[in-house]
Amino acid sequence: MPKATKALNIAELRKLARRRLPRGIFDYIDRGAEDETGLAGLRQVFDAISFNPKVLADVSARSLETMLLGHRQPMPLAIAPTAAAGLVSPEGEVALARAAAAAGIPFCIATGSITAMERIVAESTGPLWFQLYMWRDKALSYALIDRAARAGIGTLVLTVDTVAPPNREYNARNGFEIPIRASLRGGLDMVLHPRWVWRVLLRAMLREGIPTYRHYPDGFRARITRKATWEQVRLNDAITWQDLDELRRRWSGRLILKGVLRADDALRAAQARVDAIVVSSHGARNLDAAVAPAQVLPAIAQALAGRIEIIADSGIRRGSDIVKLLALGADAVLIGRAALYGTAAGGEAGASHALDLLRREMDATLAFLGCQHLSELDRGFVNLPLWHPPAPHSDRQHP
Ligand SMILES: Cc1cc2nc3c(=O)[nH]c(=O)nc-3n(C[C@H](O)[C@H](O)[C@H](O)COP(=O)(O)O)c2cc1C
Repeated sequence: MPKATKALNIAELRKLARRRLPRGIFDYIDRGAEDETGLAGLRQVFDAISFNPKVLADVSARSLETMLLGHRQPMPLAIAPTAAAGLVSPEGEVALARAAAAAGIPFCIATGSITAMERIVAESTGPLWFQLYMWRDKALSYALIDRAARAGIGTLVLTVDTVAPPNREYNARNGFEIPIRASLRGGLDMVLHPRWVWRVLLRAMLREGIPTYRHYPDGFRARITRKATWEQVRLNDAITWQDLDELRRRWSGRLILKGVLRADDALRAAQARVDAIVVSSHGARNLDAAVAPAQVLPAIAQALAGRIEIIADSGIRRGSDIVKLLALGADAVLIGRAALYGTAAGGEAGASHALDLLRREMDATLAFLGCQHLSELDRGFVNLPLWHPPAPHSDRQHP
């Protein structure tokens, strides 16, 4: 099988990931929600944005260096929180954290991590963030952030765009569930991927038993107590701005609000003294018809006028996508699937390769635009079309 580090772009890493992972797991990381129009829409929006490059500008000393939340880093990226990353390669979260550390960028540990945060902290030398989903039993969520603080994590990311279970029908069809459970379909899927069973599943089982969400209460692990525990850790659909205020009081470190898509919410977040927002449609995995971040970034950036930092994500597959979001007002971006494909294809080296591909593409884009530094990017470099309904995707035009 070709090596992950030979892949020429993120799309090639995705192909390798598809071959290596059982179908249930690949679909879980790769796909969107409902009819998946949002996923295609993210790509169409990026593709519809064009650049206005400057010429004859000396770009020989260019740099992607940037400041994010008070830290200088070599490029304007962080690895997004992705639940169950530990299922795509052995201790996938550790691989991602180490690749991020090597690139000098933050890695965000998810509430739904398969590896415990303490182990990731011990294995990584880079900056780590912790992403929180507010559970119905808020006391359990508060205990989790105390645990993150004790582990030495200084940045909390509260995700607020997932107040109901997303409708991802392929998971039901594939029988994908965590903790992984025995089923005929799942069993066949695994028989077809013995390398994954051996390298990821069996190794994880030998270490810690059936892979599961490590930050969930102990009762979640055992079948007899899972039902009662499930009620406590259901996504809290009563969460409000008062809860954000409460979290701000409890958490003395940096606080990021993830999942904002409106200028009024962005302003409200700034008033609530968060340090940054993530303008995100959750990679089109939740609300299928959510607007693409690139379409709302200019209005959000204008409303915030530099009061807090803006991070953006969803759908990034090329360095030029990143540069487009920066020109539209983002200070940095999160990478979700691109890093997961790399990890699935080649562990830590694959994740590092994904980051390197994006870095090289960003660097070339910056040069073509006639810029030495990211701070030179502004709206003048991009044309964002007046938005009309996207043309049908080419696959659908020519079935
Ligand atoms: C497999 C997977 C799991 C995810 N789990 C979480 C999560 O637990 N918490 C969260 O805030 N976002 C989660 N996300 C969303 C990412 O943080 C990020 O917003 C999104 O992946 C960005 O889009 P991209 O994957 O196209 O880069 C997940 C995304 C993926 C692909």
